[in-house]
Amino acid sequence: MPSYRIAAIPGDGIGCEVISAGIEVLEACARLEKGFQLQFEHFDWGSDYYKRHGVMMPADGLATLRGFDAIYFGAVGAPDIPDHVTLWGLRLAICQPFDQYANVRPARLLPGIQSPLAGVGPEDLDWVIVRENSEGEYAGHGGRSHRGLPEEVATDVAIYTRAGIARIMRFAFDLARSRPRHRLTVVTKSNAQRHGLVLWDEIAAEVAAGYPDVQWDKTLVDAMTARMTLKPRTLDTIVSTNLHGDILSDLAAALAGSLGIGPTANLNPERRFPSMFEPIHGSAFDIAGKGIANPIGTFWCGSMMLEHLGEKAAAARLMRAIERVMADSSLHTPDLGGTATTKQVTAAVCAALA
Ligand code: NAI
Ligand code: MG
Repeated sequence: MPSYRIAAIPGDGIGCEVISAGIEVLEACARLEKGFQLQFEHFDWGSDYYKRHGVMMPADGLATLRGFDAIYFGAVGAPDIPDHVTLWGLRLAICQPFDQYANVRPARLLPGIQSPLAGVGPEDLDWVIVRENSEGEYAGHGGRSHRGLPEEVATDVAIYTRAGIARIMRFAFDLARSRPRHRLTVVTKSNAQRHGLVLWDEIAAEVAAGYPDVQWDKTLVDAMTARMTLKPRTLDTIVSTNLHGDILSDLAAALAGSLGIGPTANLNPERRFPSMFEPIHGSAFDIAGKGIANPIGTFWCGSMMLEHLGEKAAAARLMRAIERVMADSSLHTPDLGGTATTKQVTAAVCAALA
């Protein structure tokens, strides 16, 4: 019987609450499916670790993670540590060296959940955003000099490479082809960014030639916000640069009901390194410790993790349980307008799994 080793990194704030709920649900799912085991190992890396050790994770952290089949990640961020320190110290410190270049974010209006968009139902909003996750605006190129002087300067240089664009486009076209509508929207900003995003558009067209069965179009990122809001049905699979995808996926999650629902897979598709699964939300200082964090995004990315591990039946079982629970508004947490607690939702999903 296969036994998968999962590194659990809850991180900070509600990350800790949703990951412990997620592990409970995943263990219940594995017990019911019977054909495999999950072995979780816990890592206390994050902001508290930083306060004790001056780093977000130990120097040999990546070498430790390398041996795992997958990483189940909560969120990082603390009110008293700058966000760029926590983000680059842990999340990006894993994504970048493990070459998790495909960030996959499904956004679907689950039956039972009300979209803030009037008249929009589950059949109108079923998207997957593929965000380039290794370069673009978050490549880490740049610097700061003449600190404190009037001529102080800071740069973040967006990096676009032929290899990086081609691989994310192929990934997105493959994904679009695997979905019923065979439709892909390429998000761009090549009117203003006339080098990197012109290359982005050119390579999109080159790759598209190999996918005559996929219907694709291009939309400027600013117009994309309007299209997502006003014509959600015209979209299916979406591919974007790192920054654009970061922003659009929070919008997508909000339109699908709540930031608490959205899942993320940070994939190294070639499987040279472990992939990482996390809800799209952050550590949510405002509700941390209150027991009301919505764990559904974390459960959903648990389902994506099972799928990635090859346990498709278990992944589908978990997704069905999530849908059944969300169909009952008495099991909605406050972000969805309900009064349920994290614990109640977790217990309900465990029961629905059976
Ligand atoms: P956030 O996602 O933590 O929270 C935004 C709003 O959504 C808050 O009102 C929060 O209560 C609500 N929310 C988020 N997740 C929820 C859930 N599961 N259930 C119910 N409500 C939920 O984003 P914010 O406030 O911008 O950032 C807080 C910290 O998290 C910052 O330090 C930021 O850098 C960090 N962050 C970390 C991320 C990561 O680790 N991947 C991603 C986004 C932010
Ligand atoms: Mg984000």
